[in-house]
Amino acid sequence: MNAVGSGSAPGKVILLGEHSVVFGQPAIAASIARRMEIVVRRQDGAKPHPDPKVAAALEFAAKERDLDPRGLALEIHSEIPPACGLGSSAALSLALVRAIADLAGADLVGDDARVRASRVEDVFHGTASGVDVATSASGGVILFERSTPPRIERLRPAAPVDLVIASSGDPRSTAGPVGKLRARNAERPALYGKLFRLAGEIVSDGRIALEQGDWSGLGSLMDIAQGVLNGFGVSTPTLERMIAVARGAGALGAKLSGAGGGGVIVALAPANAPEVEAALRGAGFEAFVTRIGDSKEVGNAR
Ligand code: MEV
Repeated sequence: MNAVGSGSAPGKVILLGEHSVVFGQPAIAASIARRMEIVVRRQDGAKPHPDPKVAAALEFAAKERDLDPRGLALEIHSEIPPACGLGSSAALSLALVRAIADLAGADLVGDDARVRASRVEDVFHGTASGVDVATSASGGVILFERSTPPRIERLRPAAPVDLVIASSGDPRSTAGPVGKLRARNAERPALYGKLFRLAGEIVSDGRIALEQGDWSGLGSLMDIAQGVLNGFGVSTPTLERMIAVARGAGALGAKLSGAGGGGVIVALAPANAPEVEAALRGAGFEAFVTRIGDSKEVGNAR
């Protein structure tokens, strides 16, 4: 048993398959080089964390290790902006599980960190597919499919490739767009079932393009995926404008990433990421370049 425990985890970007992954279709996602770090300290009279969801997550994670959450103070250092589709709640859940294990002097073996962090993530939004936590826990690029246990396959892109991520500046909750789509699907299950299967096919084709280094093919698939996400009702006029800016600046494909309804877009720019980034910044959006498929994975470090 230690006086202090620490843990960290990376954020993620979904390349293809958000939303349909909740309904059993595959998704492709990658960890990004922006991390969440958590320090948990035993401290008499520690005040509960001011964010009630974070306080609830701490309580849940501590009780799972038979620790009294009332004596624990939490410090969070994050490079991942919250509520924008880059997996901040999944990274927080995983970093917390790692920090609590460190505090308790317990080992996290095999898939343990992911499984525990998925339970913590349910405290934030009960309907998560688990793709965010799985990506953060695996690091690198994965194909994920919701099942029991989930299918998590590491993908090897033909070469490292640059993505540009840009933020609409509109915060959103994952639960909002997910709930909206659930309601639409309940109204017209046959039609949405077809759209989910189409989204799944785009992911399967996307996997082949990624592994073959067919960047223009992958870009087209991202554009088609954006059309389907539009059909799901989770895009916004601002996201559409950003996507148009990215494509206009030479991105091979661009789409919203994560839950939508605000949040971020992702653009594929293997040869001209700085130009695409500059165009998005010029249009008034925060943007950064991230490289996926590098052999140096960023997920597993404690
Ligand atoms: C959120 O990053 C991705 C969604 O598909 C929700 C989920 O899979 O839990 C929108």
